[in-house]
Amino acid sequence: MAHETCGSHITRQRGTAIGRPAAVVRRESAMLEPGQMATPPQQIKSSEIAFFDGHAASGAYDVFAPETNARLIDIFVRLSRLPGGARIADLGCGSGVFSNLLRQRGYDVTGVDLSPKLINVAQAKFPGITFLEGDIEQLPFTDASFDGVLLGGVLHHLPDPSRCAAEVARILRPGGSFVAFDPNRMNPFMYLYRDRTSPFYSATGVTKNERPILADDIAATFRAAGFRTGTEFHSGLKYRYTASAAARRLLPLYNLLDDILFRPALMTRYRSFVITHGEKLQERA
Ligand SMILES: C[S@@+](CC[C@H](N)C(=O)[O-])C[C@H]1O[C@@H](n2cnc3c(N)ncnc32)[C@H](O)[C@@H]1O
Repeated sequence: MAHETCGSHITRQRGTAIGRPAAVVRRESAMLEPGQMATPPQQIKSSEIAFFDGHAASGAYDVFAPETNARLIDIFVRLSRLPGGARIADLGCGSGVFSNLLRQRGYDVTGVDLSPKLINVAQAKFPGITFLEGDIEQLPFTDASFDGVLLGGVLHHLPDPSRCAAEVARILRPGGSFVAFDPNRMNPFMYLYRDRTSPFYSATGVTKNERPILADDIAATFRAAGFRTGTEFHSGLKYRYTASAAARRLLPLYNLLDDILFRPALMTRYRSFVITHGEKLQERA
């Protein structure tokens, strides 16, 4: 994998130590035989790269409608509280859609993705932005070299997000912030269609690594890595594309139901997307 050196803040570095929240480790340990040690699950990089390289070739991988992309960027600006000119790493940038929207808001953006072909697509579409092939769990940046991080739909591709949380903490300056969005396992549609334990699970259009997230687990993981965290739940984020042709026909109905059913405050925790955000605390003594 090629890791370019591009600007003084970018070098090749190994990932840092991992702090896994006790609640998550307890849940995993409960499934072990007596005496067996809990091994954190690993992302299968080859599956991830093959899947997203395939999408780059098909040219059909910007999943959200343009108004939803704009809404997600508004959420990033509001929750990160970072001014124009701030240095932002868009981690898991895919074809660079969000990197470009962040740049349009005046940020100094660098995109990183595991898929070399998506990085090529992004670089060809947006030549004014630096895009690097790289792994979120082992980022090619020096410590404290960014003010903000966007994790756009990528945490749920990491069976153990604690390595990524440690890397985000490492590359952010103290007081820097991250914003992440991911599908919510507590949402009935996301659970039924996209969780492996559901009888209606569909493996079409998803990688072996991904699973909708539990908001409290993700927040705990980032707190353990040294962040003050917050969580929001959003619905009405409209999909433009899904890999299954049958599901594509149902998209307008899904988009409508997702928008209407989860509006009442009572339904907040069941909305389809979890937004996790956090501010890196000052270094611990
Ligand atoms: C669901 S896509 C989201 C792409 C883009 N952020 C968006 O929202 O349109 C997830 C992206 O994360 C990338 N990805 C998955 N695992 C990664 C890793 N370990 N390091 C870097 N990128 C990764 C994939 O290649 C893919 O482009």
